[in-house]
Amino acid sequence: MLPTGKRLGVGSELNVEDFGRVVLGHELGEGGMGIVYRGWLYYDPRGRFAGREPHPVAIKVLHPLLRGRDRAQKMFRREAEALRRLAHPNVVHFFALTEDQGHLALVMELVHGEPLSSIIARAVAARPSPYAPCIPFLLAWHYFAQLLGALAAVHELGILHRDVKPANVLVRPDGVVKLTDFGIARIPTADMSATGGLAPGTGAYMSPEAVRGEPQDARSDLYSAAIVLYEMLTGRTPFDRPERSELMVRAAQLDEAAEPVTALVPSAPAVLDVLMARALAKTAALRPSNAIELGEAFRSALDLPETAGWQAQQEFAALARTVSGLELPAVPETQPDLAPADLAPPPEPIAPADPAAERAEELRRDVVNAFTTQPIRQP
Ligand SMILES: Nc1ncnc2c1ncn2[C@@H]1O[C@H](COP(=O)(O)OP(=O)(O)O)[C@@H](O)[C@H]1O
Ligand SMILES: [Mg+2]
Repeated sequence: MLPTGKRLGVGSELNVEDFGRVVLGHELGEGGMGIVYRGWLYYDPRGRFAGREPHPVAIKVLHPLLRGRDRAQKMFRREAEALRRLAHPNVVHFFALTEDQGHLALVMELVHGEPLSSIIARAVAARPSPYAPCIPFLLAWHYFAQLLGALAAVHELGILHRDVKPANVLVRPDGVVKLTDFGIARIPTADMSATGGLAPGTGAYMSPEAVRGEPQDARSDLYSAAIVLYEMLTGRTPFDRPERSELMVRAAQLDEAAEPVTALVPSAPAVLDVLMARALAKTAALRPSNAIELGEAFRSALDLPETAGWQAQQEFAALARTVSGLELPAVPETQPDLAPADLAPPPEPIAPADPAAERAEELRRDVVNAFTTQPIRQP
């Protein structure tokens, strides 16, 4: 928790290199990594975005202990640049990472919506019967398909989210989902003892390899995404219990089997249990290998129609590398910090071929249009 004396008040300003400055408004919320404020971005009248109108943003001031080491911050910025080019409609747009007056802050798109975690909490309280899923199957798929679409595209770029959980899935009132907090688990704590020496992440959603501090890949994010689906349907995550500590939850990720969904939601088809067991396999090699495959498996298990929105997600993911125009070289996970000089400069962006850029723009519209229609009223 940030000491109150260190909190930035309404009207505080932070300089954002290359952009201008942000002025902070009221607090939107506080999470494990810092405090999120509403705010405004004012472009520097002499900078490269001169003349643009100021616009509303969300500013996440990171906890003072999150002092990104140089290499971690560099990788974070490079991934953020690739995500900016990708401009996936289900990913919160990221403007800048800034360090000013001793504060490290992220400037991003302001989403008018609420986290999926609140929607789940409300659905649990209003569950119509102990046989029914907390969030109806069709609505759960509506959220899940957008989460998977975002993951499918960014995984194509070699980018991992690393902290997939309902608190990072923001849902607008029109039903469009925005995944936020990409890669910020990369910015490590300067002092690991502050977290009891634990790797960053939220135990209830962490893959076994993340718990062990081993290298992760797309299947680690997919494991977490499957837990999000499990929670939407059953109202709880498979491994946390009120009496368990964070450490016990993480330990359970390693060797405990999740209770079958049908034991908690009797109206769910049995095939869902098979599928969930595969998605939550302790060994990554046994899980579905990509987000589209995972989505297709659930869609057919639940006998849901192949929608235009889900098709657009698949096509967008297939275009992701071309659209972002950035090839990110793979960087080994467990390597210790390197001197900045050891890092190759980011490759020059390749301008996307016009037909691909145009198709991508169409697909962005298709995704938003398709998912703007609510299949069922939100709880
Ligand atoms: N881009 C955004 N736009 C609007 N609200 C946001 C945004 N990002 C985060 N928030 C709000 O701030 C709260 C805290 O965010 P965060 O620090 O990411 O929490 P957590 O660690 O739980 O993910 C979120 O629950 C959400 O309500
Ligand atoms: Mg978050």
